[in-house]
Amino acid sequence: MEQSNVGKLFEGKTFNNFKILPATENAYNDCLDFCTNYIPKCRGLRLHGRYGCGKTHLAAAILNNLLKQNIPSMMIVTANLFDCIKQGFNDKEKALIATELVNKAKQVDVLILDDFGAEKDRDSNGNLKMVGSWERENLFLLINTRYENNLTTIITTNYNMQELFELFGERIMSRIAEMTISVGMKGAENYRIRLAQVV
Ligand SMILES: Nc1ncnc2c1ncn2[C@@H]1O[C@H](COP(=O)(O)OP(=O)(O)O)[C@@H](O)[C@H]1O
Ligand SMILES: [Mg+2]
Repeated sequence: MEQSNVGKLFEGKTFNNFKILPATENAYNDCLDFCTNYIPKCRGLRLHGRYGCGKTHLAAAILNNLLKQNIPSMMIVTANLFDCIKQGFNDKEKALIATELVNKAKQVDVLILDDFGAEKDRDSNGNLKMVGSWERENLFLLINTRYENNLTTIITTNYNMQELFELFGERIMSRIAEMTISVGMKGAENYRIRLAQVV
């Protein structure tokens, strides 16, 4: 669990404590089916929907389920991956840590990249701006290695495919499109607000 990089917050997120609502029922079933029918090198998922609809919860549920089946799996928040690489720019020890993380991410049977594309990728007018070139280069090397080895990759994102192409470019996104099956959570409410109202 520690090696899988899952944040403490997500250790307890499972299929059992995911409340099935009409708007998320299909996504729940697709994610559970993915775990039940998992075979090495099968196609991954692209979980998309708006902020707070339960994407990370379902991704963590997949991770927890796969780890229980002893399938080597790992979940990284995409911004944290970039942050880790960036910290290595001027620090040899941190560069080694980053290389180790990236190498694991390149090789692990199932990689989950959480929050692919973040809110800060918009300019002051609210328009999308392309993710920085070193981030894209590193991400390309990671995605392409997995693509060439047919390794299963799952992403969660607030963005639709067109927006992802604008953010990450065709080189990365054409591969991800091929590597993943779309799982939409359209119409799902922001569960965070619901949680806040219960308190
Ligand atoms: N259907 C659900 N049942 C139970 N908890 C949920 C559900 N959807 C979301 N949550 C909870 O609401 C919070 C926000 O969900 P999260 O998965 O982080 O949203 P997203 O990644 O889509 O922004 C988390 O604490 C999550 O566990
Ligand atoms: Mg999330």
